[in-house]
Amino acid sequence: MCGIVGYIGKDIKETLIDGLKELEYRGYDSSGIAILSKNDLFIKKTVGKIENLELASKDYVNTEKSIGIGHTRWATHGKPTDINAHPHLGEFSFVIHNGIIENFQELKKEMSDDLFLSQTDTEVIVHLFENNFNKLNDELEAFKATIKMLRGSYAILLISKTSKENIYFAKLNSPLAIGKNDNGNYSLASSDLAMQEDINSIIHLDDGDYGVVCEDSISLFNNEEKKNIAFKTLNSNKLFSQKEGYKFFMEKEIYEQSTVICDTLASRVSDKISFDELNMDISKFSSIIICACGTSYNAALSSKYLFEQIAKISTNIEIASELRYREPVLDKNALFISISQSGETADTLECLKMVKKMGLKTLAVCNVDNSAIVRLSDEYILTRAGFEKGVASTKSFTTQLTILWMLSIFIAQEKNIISDELLEKEIKAILELYSVLEVPKILHEKIHKLSKRYLHGHGFFFIARDIFYPLALEGALKLKEISYFHAEGYPAGEMKHGPIALADPELFTIALLPRSRLYEKMKSNIQELIARDSTVCIIGSSDKDLADDFIEIKEYSHQMHEYFSMTIVLQLLSMEIALRLGHDVDMPRNLAKSVTVE
Ligand code: M6R
Repeated sequence: MCGIVGYIGKDIKETLIDGLKELEYRGYDSSGIAILSKNDLFIKKTVGKIENLELASKDYVNTEKSIGIGHTRWATHGKPTDINAHPHLGEFSFVIHNGIIENFQELKKEMSDDLFLSQTDTEVIVHLFENNFNKLNDELEAFKATIKMLRGSYAILLISKTSKENIYFAKLNSPLAIGKNDNGNYSLASSDLAMQEDINSIIHLDDGDYGVVCEDSISLFNNEEKKNIAFKTLNSNKLFSQKEGYKFFMEKEIYEQSTVICDTLASRVSDKISFDELNMDISKFSSIIICACGTSYNAALSSKYLFEQIAKISTNIEIASELRYREPVLDKNALFISISQSGETADTLECLKMVKKMGLKTLAVCNVDNSAIVRLSDEYILTRAGFEKGVASTKSFTTQLTILWMLSIFIAQEKNIISDELLEKEIKAILELYSVLEVPKILHEKIHKLSKRYLHGHGFFFIARDIFYPLALEGALKLKEISYFHAEGYPAGEMKHGPIALADPELFTIALLPRSRLYEKMKSNIQELIARDSTVCIIGSSDKDLADDFIEIKEYSHQMHEYFSMTIVLQLLSMEIALRLGHDVDMPRNLAKSVTVE
């Protein structure tokens, strides 16, 4: 993953560090900066969060105009250590990189081992550049020759003592943007978010782009050809996110769900569903294929039930990291939907590229406008969840599923297969989401108290049936990523085909018991586990005394109301367990918010 920034100007240390703080969601194993001024060189790298880097470089003062690069790392090759942190250095140059250089071992073999300090794939770039510079005596030519030798994915920034005024950049399959302010000064970053306040226009580089930025000019190339540069206006309303009194972003984002959902619905719901942003005949597709990773995949899996129930359309859900390496036989008349909060997830993006080549019509459901997945898709719908900063996805999940639910109704409408009664019922249910997603104080308190009973044991099963089964998967994913407990989501009816062998009091079962779908069947599955001494916690609106613990949701008749109130419970439960264990729920170990490497 990793986040990168580059800047030319004054207050350079502060600017680079501010940019890195905005990119910390992309990885926080280590971070580093390198700054070159006329008479000065500063390089600092630290393990852990950006605050460590800030502290370690607090005594460095620089008032001159300088060039600098900064990096926050999510480790792929080599442990998170100071040495493996970026920038990587050669004799006279510094490089930072997001992505993976797949042929780095091959390239290293051509060079002396003594050159290499780190175990990273990135370091090879700086040594290649210096070799090429020594041969060609021209920075740009040397940089060009270097990137030609690389295989894999990269967003690269490189600076060198040989000029002290240029930042070289290259992009292939990893995001990189260049921003400009009114004075014509440039800034580079993995995402718009890391640009300074005064940056008001932007270009998102294409794959194969490379070039050089200096104080007031930029040269951009692709395939040896000089490219015209068309800056677009950058929305000055930066998706700035603060904790607003909450201790953690995750908590804030759970509580925000009831308000952001109003943005998701705005202008899309009246007496029918409309998506004015779509310019396609949605009724013409013979099937739907949805592709995603992680939480977005769980939202997609849930939507399969809705597309089939409401729109009566065959729907297949694909895990992106699997789909991209299969030899899939896809329905050419299918609508291919990519779901992604960030719009940057490498596996999802690669699948999108693959199916575009196959000629399928593509639609993105995404939270980040202008992201790679949005830009590449034929059409897109924004989820409007606002900036999600916690690594554990919460509000992106509820808004994604709401969009998919609305899309299933929209297709049914356009195909003329939904009755007026059903349409009215679904729209009413959608408009009530605001109150369903509100977090009752008493519920949060109850979950906080109860969480202390679930801090040991040998693992969790989250069980459910029907559309609630993907929610069980999401509950398990949430718990494992922030509590580090083993947790598994399972279809309740499948427990007796193997996993029930694990049942004992130290096996915690979180059972979703909705009244709206397969209530009796689910209850029997719960009883089977109780009979075998598993410790069971039911989330539902009835059967308070059936199991060891009970988390009560309001009585709802609509399946999606039960679904979303259970979602809130699962999010709070995982957060409370993780907090009791002393974990940082916003930045759990080993993870990053945007997974831009495969
Ligand atoms: O940005 P995306 O929705 O494409 O991200 C996909 C997954 O990496 C993501 O949903 C991940 O599983 C969650 N952060 C888990 O909470």
